[in-house]
Amino acid sequence: MEILQNVTEQLKTDHKESYAAWLQYKKIEDFSLLENYQKWFENLASLADSVVIESAKKELLLGLSSMLGVQPTFSTERKAAAGIVLGTSVSIANQIEIDFEQLNDDGYVIKTVTTEEKSTIFLLGKEDTGVLYAAFHLLRLMQNRESMDHLDILENPKNQLRMINHWDNMDGSIERGYAGNSIFYSGNKFNDELNRIEDYARLLSSVGINGVSINNVNVHKVETDLITSSLLPKVAEVAAIFRAYGIKTFLSVNYASTIEIGNLETADPLDTGVQEWWKNKAKEIYRYIPDFGGFIVKADSEHRPGPFTYNRNHADGANMLATALEPFGGLVVWRCFVYNCLQDWRDRSTDRARAAYDHFKPLDGQFHPNVILQIKNGPMDFQVREAVSPLFGAMEQTNQMMEFQITQEYTGQQRHLCYLVPQWKEILDFDTFAKGEGSPVKNIVDGSLFQSRHSGIAAVSNIGNDYNWTGHTLAQANLYGFGRLTWNPDLSSETITNEWTLQTFGKDELVVQQVSQMLLDSWRIYENYTSPLGVGWMVNPSHHYGPNVDGYEYSVWGTYHFADYQGIGVDRTVKAGTGYTAQYFKENADRYEALETCPDELLLFFHHVPYTHRLKSGETVIQHIYNTHFEGVQQAEELTERWTLLEGKIDQERYEDILKRLQEQANHSKEWRDIINTYFYRKSGINDEKYRTIY
Ligand code: GCU
Repeated sequence: MEILQNVTEQLKTDHKESYAAWLQYKKIEDFSLLENYQKWFENLASLADSVVIESAKKELLLGLSSMLGVQPTFSTERKAAAGIVLGTSVSIANQIEIDFEQLNDDGYVIKTVTTEEKSTIFLLGKEDTGVLYAAFHLLRLMQNRESMDHLDILENPKNQLRMINHWDNMDGSIERGYAGNSIFYSGNKFNDELNRIEDYARLLSSVGINGVSINNVNVHKVETDLITSSLLPKVAEVAAIFRAYGIKTFLSVNYASTIEIGNLETADPLDTGVQEWWKNKAKEIYRYIPDFGGFIVKADSEHRPGPFTYNRNHADGANMLATALEPFGGLVVWRCFVYNCLQDWRDRSTDRARAAYDHFKPLDGQFHPNVILQIKNGPMDFQVREAVSPLFGAMEQTNQMMEFQITQEYTGQQRHLCYLVPQWKEILDFDTFAKGEGSPVKNIVDGSLFQSRHSGIAAVSNIGNDYNWTGHTLAQANLYGFGRLTWNPDLSSETITNEWTLQTFGKDELVVQQVSQMLLDSWRIYENYTSPLGVGWMVNPSHHYGPNVDGYEYSVWGTYHFADYQGIGVDRTVKAGTGYTAQYFKENADRYEALETCPDELLLFFHHVPYTHRLKSGETVIQHIYNTHFEGVQQAEELTERWTLLEGKIDQERYEDILKRLQEQANHSKEWRDIINTYFYRKSGINDEKYRTIY
């Protein structure tokens, strides 16, 4: 154990900055600021006690000792000395005129109170988790060198469930993982060393994540066993680590568990034997993990088992599991990524984009209160650009939550820089018109629009056991940004980006300004040299990296983009296409249906047009394809140049790691440009107006 512990310790020493991510806690060099800060931290009084409060204390101690070089004394009551007070006590809150009624379960207050005798910073939560979040917030302020003198902050997370989904397999691989292997498993068992998980939990908790599912939604035989007595003790160990950071553990389960591990012959949700089996299973799980979060389920999609085999629907399937979990407060997170991957694309009356809505909308009102439908942000699959899923807001009587993908499956696989916060913001701000104007997605997934019982946002993790967690060091910003945005979807991309950069790289003005802007520009740049105007895909089969216009594996019977010598795009109109546009509320349905009002960036997602069709920008479609691909490559090359301006201002390891990735991106962007431009030049036979060389 001693030796194993050292693996993580070694990482921390050898790759200090890369590993610490945004929790750098660098020593404050500015002497007057140091003195000012130090005066607040003579004593740390903790008026509450629990594993979560313990984590808050530990984090504060770590942060204070490394930033300020101080070791506060500890007490269980307020001391005369200046200090921090942690607590959940209403009476303390009353004394300093804080109304706990304004806080939700994870909410907190940070308040500076200065009297003649003493100065105190209060970190008060309604629950212990609030105190922990307040501690991280205070440390963030210090990392960003903000004044402590007049703090008066009240924070409530907007989303109830703020979750990370791991697609980790027990053999150690990660489906769509681009940063090494799993931190949880290797060789079909849990890793002996679990202490890296604590550092991961710190990162997650520092941005407010409160749920984590620890295995792939595609549950193979070995992970099916996670809910058996052979593996539950280990799951419980992992859950204990997360629990100390306010994070509940969930498992993805195999819908056919009753057959695979239960010795039953069926997984029919209406079979009483199946129902009993799951009830007993839930009891057993909660014996090991009393605060177990619940199950994530991928059913009847991409060859996963599900209720369809028994002529039952998704509500039957989900409710059966929900009944088993209900006595323990557990949730069923049922994924809506359900479509027929063997669909024949030449038959244009079927449309994968329609699938989730077609399957689930008719079931509105039939799901139990502890079921949440988890819906991918778009109707396809995490493309660089696609429409927002029309299912958001379409099921008034059903709990819904968002699924984003932090891991960059289709957005450069953490070899390219693609900062996704601006994309997520656009999606969360999208007005569904579900209850008239002013019904944005963010108000559906936070539960406020329909007063949903459970709701939230989940995302597929981008971390692995690489020393910098995310492969591309700048991809750490996506994990950070996801957490912050999920806590508060009203934060601007700029605010989040700035915060992250300051904490990760320090206060140098050029660094902050350059890195923030590079991040903010990167999604558009990636879009420019990859697939145009919302058409999507165009990637190599199976691993999905790199350009291949007709490559996507599930398009073997045709292409997703329907490009021929005359035109390109998928007609999803009611008038002449798949009728998908009708799945939106009227305002959006009309806007997408008409060529004149359909936004340029989604044109080919909704319409099939000739290459000579003129966009609102004034360019023709073909010219837009050429221009953006030339421009995208130039911008990718500029990213490298922008980065080199920072040499000497960033530690060598991170500087070089990032430089290498940016150089790879610049090179690879040329491959994208050349393959896409050539393909469409050959298809259309139309020259580039600027006579650039098209290979
Ligand atoms: C995509 C991805 C798969 C994943 C699936 C899902 O299709 O390529 O690896 O299993 O999404 O979300 O279930």
